[in-house]
Amino acid sequence: MRVDIISIFPEYFAPLDVSLMGKARERGLLDVHVHQLRDWAHDVHRTVDDTPYGGGPGMVMKPEVWGDAIDAVVARGRASAGEGLPRMVVPTPSGRPFTQEVALEYAAEPWLLFAPARYEGIDSRVVAEYGTPLRADEVSIGDYVLAGGEAAVLVIVEAVGRLLPGVLGNARSVADDSFAPGAMANLLEGPVYTKPPVWRGHEVPQILLSGHHGRIARWRRDEALRRTLGKRPELVGRIGEESLDKDDRRVIEEFEERRSAASFRAGPEDMAD
Ligand code: ADE
Repeated sequence: MRVDIISIFPEYFAPLDVSLMGKARERGLLDVHVHQLRDWAHDVHRTVDDTPYGGGPGMVMKPEVWGDAIDAVVARGRASAGEGLPRMVVPTPSGRPFTQEVALEYAAEPWLLFAPARYEGIDSRVVAEYGTPLRADEVSIGDYVLAGGEAAVLVIVEAVGRLLPGVLGNARSVADDSFAPGAMANLLEGPVYTKPPVWRGHEVPQILLSGHHGRIARWRRDEALRRTLGKRPELVGRIGEESLDKDDRRVIEEFEERRSAASFRAGPEDMAD
């Protein structure tokens, strides 16, 4: 996969040299090109922003600079990589949520072009201009506001990069991810352990030492369900009835019984009557 990133902080992307993404790049599975947006500015001060029409705080990134940068980066990429156009990704807190499903969608693209903004964002005509030809996609990595889109690009490139064929040694580790489609879809991963069997008095659950693969798989699913019920109950609601077996229903019922018993104990005002 080819990845182009246009930013006023190219140095922000140094982490892509490290660890799994660094190895993927060394092995030619991920071909990352980072560009300085200011190289396409039109004045000696290399200005990339201006005051917003309609007033208000902050600055807006100039459309002419972004337009020239995108055109040049796309032309260069086509000259070296051949046919086709990139999928353009614009991180913004006002975009659609970036999820594992979107990561899988991007992982199927041969070429991604990231346009991370600073300040109050990029003049909206840029997404209007490239929306159709580059299938521009505005995405948010969460309901919080970052100082700019660069950190979001790092998150997205890592989530997508690890899905590329050959990047992870063991293909099963992708299939077992929380949020991956399949039998464990919508379940958070449960607890994991390694040696020693006892650490500071904490024991590894006996079942994991039993060598009984069927029971271990069941235990892992129970734990995943309990964790999801506790931390992300809305995800359990997304699991289709047909994907829940009788053991799953038992875990859900037990969890609900324990929760209602706990809330009864925690509510002395109900007991006062
Ligand atoms: N830029 C600023 N905040 C962001 C967010 N939450 N997601 C994506 N891009 C952003």
